[in-house]
Amino acid sequence: TLQRVYVTRQIPPEGLKILQDSGQVQFELWNSDDVPVPRKELLQKVKGVDGLLCVLTEKIDAELLDAAGPNLKVVSTMSVGYDHLFLQELKKRGVRVGYTPDVLTDAVAELTVALLLATSRRLIEATHEAKTGGWGTWRTLWLCGHELANSTVGILGLGRIGVAIAERLAPFKVKKFIYTDVAPRPDLAKAINAEYVSFDELAKQSDFLAVCCALTPETREICNENLFSKMKKTSIFINTSRGGVVNQEDLYQALASGQIAGAGLDVTVPEPLPTNHPLFSLNNCVILPHIASASYTTRNAMSALAANNLLLGLRGQPMIKELKL
Ligand code: GLV
Ligand code: GLV
Repeated sequence: TLQRVYVTRQIPPEGLKILQDSGQVQFELWNSDDVPVPRKELLQKVKGVDGLLCVLTEKIDAELLDAAGPNLKVVSTMSVGYDHLFLQELKKRGVRVGYTPDVLTDAVAELTVALLLATSRRLIEATHEAKTGGWGTWRTLWLCGHELANSTVGILGLGRIGVAIAERLAPFKVKKFIYTDVAPRPDLAKAINAEYVSFDELAKQSDFLAVCCALTPETREICNENLFSKMKKTSIFINTSRGGVVNQEDLYQALASGQIAGAGLDVTVPEPLPTNHPLFSLNNCVILPHIASASYTTRNAMSALAANNLLLGLRGQPMIKELKL
């Protein structure tokens, strides 16, 4: 008999095809206007399922796991981030968890470089000026920014994505890469010739500081007044990890007061960030709607990996990418 699966969102075609062709599962899909399934509906729909394929807008917590019941064996998330999954609760119930690292590394690194350059060279302000009549004449210091050549780039949380970002930035003639993490990662650092420094040194030395860590209790709001106050006035802060690693009020103050030069954020708290949020009023803050992995190739690869993880897990086999709980 077919195993029952609930898919919490319309996912890209490659993953759906894998589920359809598997002959292993019977699945239902939340498929209304590409918005998150209402919580009440989700709690109904998961009753008795064997597997759940979700995205990062769904909180998989004790309430949801209780609603699903003891049949649930696998939660497969179409994301590399797992802060929406209550891992202790999953572990307690013996539910296995799949996620989608690696396949999105290139896309996230590309977007991070794009966001970094858009922020440091003020592209959003510039196109706005050009379009709305601010372009009176060529001016010597107008819309000047900060360049990567001869700069020090700092990486907060060195993993696959941090390495991929550094590899792409190196050809821009970056002088030095530095990083901090809970412990040195010589294996990863070697490939990009990055030096391990303390958190304070990272703040002090970085001309560009890219946040690439997972959101965990240890990293929540780790980017706060303490960090920003040590950064250079000319420095640029980039976050493509999770909004929760930043204290946004402290970031707003740092940007508004000129304590740092600019910030590029692909992630915020909450998401979406309300359009009247103070950060939107700042010219030196570039905000994107969480699109770092949003290439057709990558989103399809993520959906395929999430589908394969789910099917493997439901067969009691090792998943391609499984979180150790
Ligand atoms: C996106 O943010 C992801 O976690 O995949
Ligand atoms: C800029 O366009 C220059 O010619 O210097």
